[in-house]
Amino acid sequence: MEILVVGAGALGLLISGLIAHNGGHVTLYSRRPEAIEHISKKGIRIITDNEEYVVRVKCIASIQKDNYYELAIVTVKSYDTETIAKLLAEKLNSQTFVLSLQNGLGNAEILASHLGKERVFPGITTQASTRLGINEVYHAFNGLTIIGEYDGPPTERVRRIADFLSNNGVTCIVSENIWREIWFKVMVNSVINPLTAIMKIKNEGLLKISSIELLIKDILSEIISVAKLYGYEFNLNECYEKIIKIIQDTRNNKSSMLQDIENKRRTEIDSLNGMITKLAEMHGLETPLNRALTIFVKGIEER
Ligand SMILES: NC(=O)c1ccc[n+]([C@@H]2O[C@H](COP(=O)([O-])OP(=O)(O)OC[C@H]3O[C@@H](n4cnc5c(N)ncnc54)[C@H](OP(=O)(O)O)[C@@H]3O)[C@@H](O)[C@H]2O)c1
Repeated sequence: MEILVVGAGALGLLISGLIAHNGGHVTLYSRRPEAIEHISKKGIRIITDNEEYVVRVKCIASIQKDNYYELAIVTVKSYDTETIAKLLAEKLNSQTFVLSLQNGLGNAEILASHLGKERVFPGITTQASTRLGINEVYHAFNGLTIIGEYDGPPTERVRRIADFLSNNGVTCIVSENIWREIWFKVMVNSVINPLTAIMKIKNEGLLKISSIELLIKDILSEIISVAKLYGYEFNLNECYEKIIKIIQDTRNNKSSMLQDIENKRRTEIDSLNGMITKLAEMHGLETPLNRALTIFVKGIEER
């Protein structure tokens, strides 16, 4: 299977590096000439707590229609999805499937609006990587990738992609209900990311705040009421317990949003708490906490 990874950031470098390291055919697309030069000359360096290795990966500056890829994996930030969707609709062979592994709500939908939903697979990943340099990532956690069909139950084609990824270094399973998985990941990110970014604390800092349970449950209640409007039911206490477990397991991590704030980069707040607020408003519902978190994070971003 020929794979194209779109976006040479923390996740794109990791996914393409893992696939190449495990013998898969992969090409990485970047918009930055210096990244293309560096990756082409020196490969991708992946650093874990136990090992460090360099993988040779083909890196390209433009996508050509006559180069056939079976799957393009989108690894740009959610605020760049629209631009990438237009580019892929123009440049990809019409047979190529597209998988989003991005965080937030709305990515697969934007891709589908330009490429057709029959070509798009929604997905999530708990892989965790941080970009250390132009061709270098720290692979903090070897997580699970979950993918599914845009509509309907899983078919052979999505299972084939999951098998390919699993056999090539990216452990992947197929979900019967990928949209529910996405909603839960959005819950996790909409709690941990803005709170740690606003308070400038590592994940473990959340566990030290005495009344954090109340705050997390109030944020979650709002998200759960919006998810319900879209047909996804969640139990508040179950979600709370799972999120606390995730915070405990990632206690030493700096959330991606905190890293973005520290590095003066734009955050993905609009596709998390911002999107929750927007969807709620469309249905006449109020989500004041999610709105406040969005405003706080945007305020910090603008400083
Ligand atoms: N990092 C993780 O561990 C992880 C885990 C799970 C999910 N995710 C999700 O995956 C997505 C990507 O995250 P990330 O951490 O990899 O972000 P990132 O490091 O900022 O990487 C995004 C990459 O996309 C590139 N890009 C943006 N627009 C582009 C365009 N028009 N053409 C070509 N390349 C373009 C950027 O290029 P430049 O370098 O030129 O800016 C950047 O290299 C996010 O939605 C994130 O939430 C990340």
